[in-house]
Amino acid sequence: MSGKKNPTITDIAELAKVSTTTVSHVLNHTRPVSKTLSSRVTAAVRELEYRPNVMARGLRIQSSKILGLIIPDNTNPFFGELALGAEDCAFRHGYSILLCNSRHDIARELTYISNLTSYPVDGLVLSAVSVSTEHINELVTLGTPIIIIDRKVPGVDADVILSDHAQGAREAVRHLVQLGHKRIAIITGPLDLVPAQDRLEGYQTVMEEEGLPVPEAFIIEGDFRFEGGQLAAQELLTLNQPPTAILACNDMMAIGALDAARRLGIHVPDDVSLVGFDDIFLASLVDPPLTTVAQAAYQLGDLAVDQLLRRVEGLEPAETREICLPTKLVIRKSTAARSQ
Ligand code: RIB
Repeated sequence: MSGKKNPTITDIAELAKVSTTTVSHVLNHTRPVSKTLSSRVTAAVRELEYRPNVMARGLRIQSSKILGLIIPDNTNPFFGELALGAEDCAFRHGYSILLCNSRHDIARELTYISNLTSYPVDGLVLSAVSVSTEHINELVTLGTPIIIIDRKVPGVDADVILSDHAQGAREAVRHLVQLGHKRIAIITGPLDLVPAQDRLEGYQTVMEEEGLPVPEAFIIEGDFRFEGGQLAAQELLTLNQPPTAILACNDMMAIGALDAARRLGIHVPDDVSLVGFDDIFLASLVDPPLTTVAQAAYQLGDLAVDQLLRRVEGLEPAETREICLPTKLVIRKSTAARSQ
């Protein structure tokens, strides 16, 4: 909206058919408001292109010094490290973190996102399991500072802090090609998520560059979990013409694949090479230690909160930013030159 007068709270109240007090509670999170009324206010805010006066808002309500962090699963060491980086940064700035595990459940994630519009959090860091932009944009519309971390959500107008997922996958596949592998399979993450799509794209790019055919059976969609890696590897390793190398798009699935190979009496790396993604602390402890693509999980969390606090404190220009961290291939013992 350019040149038009910013609508007032009264304009919003009239359009939403609620009191100005209700509008104020929704915008300032000073009291929980029913989903029905809150949605009417949000719709009016969006229709009138209302922009909260962050300074005025800051003057009216005390900062809670609490930040929300929504991640899929903190039992995955990648998210554990990310959460620690976020919390250490928050603590250094006098803030606390309200940690919410969506447990890969879209409904649960949306409940947390919806709740956090009324909790007194000053801002939110989100690693999304859903690609539903409606609820996230509701937060943006209501002026809640939000940072998307690790998993870009198309159509959301917010800062993004992530790793270069495609680059990491390209480096991993090039490493296997250099070892002489031609039959290289991939166990992807959930393909509705951008990191999984980007890693698959990185794999396909190198396979195409190298002129290596990719049988349909060599691309298996996983779930970023240990069990998903087991099942996918079981399927790959029992093919009539199995791959000589596998890229598992996170370490939890790679460790599951390692377990499946062992149960089948298949040796890693003599019979099949295996690469993971994340470089969680377990990667160097399994036998054989995992070759993997390292992400700076702790730094991602630290940077996300640092950027969020710059937004909360009004230190950032309006346009959103994307901060992309490089990945790093860590070569250990789970990959070797092709034997057959
Ligand atoms: O291990 C969990 C995966 O999901 C990581 O690769 C991270 O990038 C997240 O997207």
